[in-house]
Amino acid sequence: PEGKLWGGRFADGPSAALEKLSASVHFDWRLAPYDIAGSRAHARVLHLADLLTADELTGMIAGLDALEADVASGAFTGTVADEDVHTALERGLLERIGPDLGGKLRAGRSRNDQIATLFRMYLRDHARIIGGLIAELQQTLVDLAEAHPGVAMPGRTHLQHAQPVLFAHHVLAHAQALSRDAERLRQWDERTAVSPYGSGALAGSSLGLDPQAVAADLGFEHGSVANSIDGTASRDFVAEFAFITAMIGVDVSRMAEEIILWATKEFSFITLHDAFSTGSSIMPQKKNPDIAELARGKSGRLIGNLTGLMATLKALPLAYNRDLQEDKEPVFDSCDQLEVLLPAFTGMMATLTVNRERLEELAPAGFSLATDIAEWLVKQGVPFRVAHEVAGACVKVCEAEGIELDQLTDEQFAAISPHLTPEVRTVLNVPGALASRSGRGGTAPSAVAVQLAEFKENLAVQ
Ligand code: ARG
Repeated sequence: PEGKLWGGRFADGPSAALEKLSASVHFDWRLAPYDIAGSRAHARVLHLADLLTADELTGMIAGLDALEADVASGAFTGTVADEDVHTALERGLLERIGPDLGGKLRAGRSRNDQIATLFRMYLRDHARIIGGLIAELQQTLVDLAEAHPGVAMPGRTHLQHAQPVLFAHHVLAHAQALSRDAERLRQWDERTAVSPYGSGALAGSSLGLDPQAVAADLGFEHGSVANSIDGTASRDFVAEFAFITAMIGVDVSRMAEEIILWATKEFSFITLHDAFSTGSSIMPQKKNPDIAELARGKSGRLIGNLTGLMATLKALPLAYNRDLQEDKEPVFDSCDQLEVLLPAFTGMMATLTVNRERLEELAPAGFSLATDIAEWLVKQGVPFRVAHEVAGACVKVCEAEGIELDQLTDEQFAAISPHLTPEVRTVLNVPGALASRSGRGGTAPSAVAVQLAEFKENLAVQ
């Protein structure tokens, strides 16, 4: 069939229904710059193998350069009649340098090794873009922590008041999770820096082409694949990328959920900036945390992209199968979603205001200093089992009387346990409770300062 890369053995052209089903150019066109880079590298190894003369190589590279410029300017685009990006670009090359020279480029390669290579190149670039966006969000969290030194807040487990913590400590917890995501992207990139180009359809090439030269040309630091069947069949690099992007979405969604709660009337911990909030078409008073809600929603979509991809890969026999064409849209979508979400989320975090009074008012509420009573007793030599009981008894009295722990009288303390001397009051305040947790990773201002300094150092080299 006209314009196809595989016409020879066919008497009839493809049906319109098949063409419609088969077409991928509407989504794989974004790989065009990578396809052209691959073609340039391939032309050079054809020349090294004496399959292109020096003049032919020059003409080929000039044609690819011209094509690249026309792709960049939009003067040349793939159409539905082109099955995929590879076919479209071959048409573009033939239009520019003619079929005699242009027709030589395809020797020794297949769309199977091409697509496996281009997809890696595309995702490696986007791993760097997403990594940069994560670093900006982390920097914003560092700024938020630094802008609120010494501010206490209620720390929660089970969403119930647990123990007072430093606001900066809590904010940095989210930043730490993002550091692991950023590290995952870097480690994934190391594993993905291997080129499948030269694997051909699955078995390699008989033309004496050097896959290592192509790998070096295309910036694959770890050379070419050790196994051409694996090179064309494997997509674990896609699945792992989809996992990492889903994990980023999930980590951001946990922050998002807190923002949504914190912005409610009931919490009143934060106020979002107008520029990063939305209103209601009917309720004039509304100010909604839509960015955080979209972050929460998109995390589900990112998980779906991972899940769909895993289902596509499951039980797929080696080597290439056309099923693998289904691997791209989900992961392109994961990149697209994160690349619009992260800047908006960072903007929201950078512009919110913190209601310090509200945070500090609630920090000691809900008997969150009960652990401090128990640990104070342990320091007086009381076994923790007993100390826990005694502190629990204090809570029981407070609950019955509708008061907080620091409102118990000396007499009430003494009645609960002779160990509870008036000195227990030294730990019944938030600054004392915070300062006492000064071990590595703890919530004491001194410990959080160490964490912050270490974090900034790591962020600088990340
Ligand atoms: N468009 C295909 C894909 O995305 C690559 C081309 C391989 N096609 C083929 N018929 N072998 O996987």
